[in-house]
Amino acid sequence: MHKPSASRRLLPATRALLIQLIMLVINLLLAWLVSQFAGHDYPIMLFVLIQATGACFLAWRLGMAPWWRLIHLFFPLAVWGMVQLHVPSGVYLIGFLLSLTLFWTTFRTQVPFYPSYLAVWQQVLALMPSRPGLRMIDIGSGLGDMAMHMAQARPDCQLVGIEVAPLPWLISYVRARWRKSSARFVLGNYHKLDFQEFDVVFAYLSPAAMPALWQKAEAEMRPGSLLISYEFEIPGVVPTCQHPVGEAEKSLYGWIMPGSQT
Ligand SMILES: C[S@@+](CC[C@H](N)C(=O)[O-])C[C@H]1O[C@@H](n2cnc3c(N)ncnc32)[C@H](O)[C@@H]1O
Repeated sequence: MHKPSASRRLLPATRALLIQLIMLVINLLLAWLVSQFAGHDYPIMLFVLIQATGACFLAWRLGMAPWWRLIHLFFPLAVWGMVQLHVPSGVYLIGFLLSLTLFWTTFRTQVPFYPSYLAVWQQVLALMPSRPGLRMIDIGSGLGDMAMHMAQARPDCQLVGIEVAPLPWLISYVRARWRKSSARFVLGNYHKLDFQEFDVVFAYLSPAAMPALWQKAEAEMRPGSLLISYEFEIPGVVPTCQHPVGEAEKSLYGWIMPGSQT
């Protein structure tokens, strides 16, 4: 069986950190050589540009996804810009704490927050069985818009959203109260749920999450219940249905669990 290389076995965030560190060492070595042999330091802007382009190049060579290459390119430039602006150190702390609550565990789950939108929800509604009393869950419910829309469109169903990141969960919880939505929001990890309780499971996660999601769905979902994923397919598992939504190349995929029909 093909084994992933050592660098690919690391989490992307760990690889990204290593790339920046390796590039920093190379850059410092270069700066030292220039000062030894040319007798002058190279300008800080050149140092920043070498760091940015070098890290971006390494990320490309090590097979990191395109958005990571962009992060490598812009991160050193952003650090330099912030230093130039003399931003007070408290701002970094606030930014760090906000990111931590918003992207809590993204490092481990590899599923960042980005919301789905109306065209997706309308397509999900079209896929949902019409019988009343369905229990549906949005696993990774973000700010709660998806579940609240479903709860409004299908008042006969029970809508639950589960979110692992505290800040989005808190926002969804407060918004649901404010709007008097019947959708319920739970703070937690969907891996700890039993999918048997649900007739419809909706996921908008990431390619990295899909194989484990399928294992869980196969083991726990009842025959005839429906797993829906926006944008991300399950490798090697043919969907029961596929509907293009909005932008080209993105689809909603549905899998009906084998057994009797809903
Ligand atoms: C792409 S967003 C989708 C948000 C929402 N479902 C929507 O359609 O707008 C994915 C969300 O899943 C959350 N998430 C990732 N892994 C999770 C887990 N194991 N349990 C619960 N939430 C998770 C992330 O924090 C993120 O907010």
